[in-house]
Amino acid sequence: MSLSLSFGSSPSLDPYRLPRHVAIIMDGNGRWAKRRGLPRVVGHRRGVEVARKIVIKAREIGIAYLTLFAFSKENWQRPQTEVLNLLKLLEEYLKSELPTLIDKEIRFKMIGDLEDFPESLRELILRVERETSAFTKMTLVLALSYSGRAEIFKSLRAIAELVQKGLLAPQDLTDETIRKYFYFPELPDPDLLIRTSGEHRISNFFLYQLAYTELYFTSTLWPDFTEDEFLKALIDYQNRERRFGKIYEF
Ligand code: IPE
Ligand code: IPE
Ligand code: MG
Repeated sequence: MSLSLSFGSSPSLDPYRLPRHVAIIMDGNGRWAKRRGLPRVVGHRRGVEVARKIVIKAREIGIAYLTLFAFSKENWQRPQTEVLNLLKLLEEYLKSELPTLIDKEIRFKMIGDLEDFPESLRELILRVERETSAFTKMTLVLALSYSGRAEIFKSLRAIAELVQKGLLAPQDLTDETIRKYFYFPELPDPDLLIRTSGEHRISNFFLYQLAYTELYFTSTLWPDFTEDEFLKALIDYQNRERRFGKIYEF
């Protein structure tokens, strides 16, 4: 393999044991700015730059699915100016990143409630999805107005309707049926979840899908997160033994 995947003097990444799906809770933009006496939006702006770099790095490494939690359903409750700034940054990111996504053959997919966004942004999101839909090198998933509970509710409602119409018997309900009504049914469960900023919580992200995900917490604030730290998290993941409730005797 011609890729350089080594991290400083530490062992390098094993390209054959990569996590298929890495999810990141990009947290700490506000605190990063506050510590510098700057408005929160400066932290968000810098956070977008970091996200850009990590996307490129993930693609270079060969990660199949990268999900970035960019805006939660609960984040709408922040002050209006902050929400507007975040929407503006999202628009700028999608517009400026589309050529890169095309160049790197990255498919883009949003998960979350599209109807929560203003029409111009909805159209932009759908356009980026459409124009990248045929790419297979990597799938970049952006969680926008996303809530794990809302996703489960969405599926429960759809299933309740099927049962009500007599199209599904309760005993025939499977894991597959539940996922069928999620935002992006083909998305495999995350193998690795990274959360920056020192918070040790899930904050309503991927509640159903995290059942056996390896969790990696770092105190680094998202605007300070680097490609090297991303590699470090991947190497840490590769040094873990995933048991899935079983035991491995030898
Ligand atoms: C993450 O940074 C970005 C979003 C949630 C949109 P925060 O804005 O949550 O930053 P902190 O956690 O307040 O430092
Ligand atoms: C989680 O961060 C959501 C995103 C990173 C988009 P929050 O900053 O919103 O989460 P809490 O409030 O600390 O749990
Ligand atoms: Mg936060």
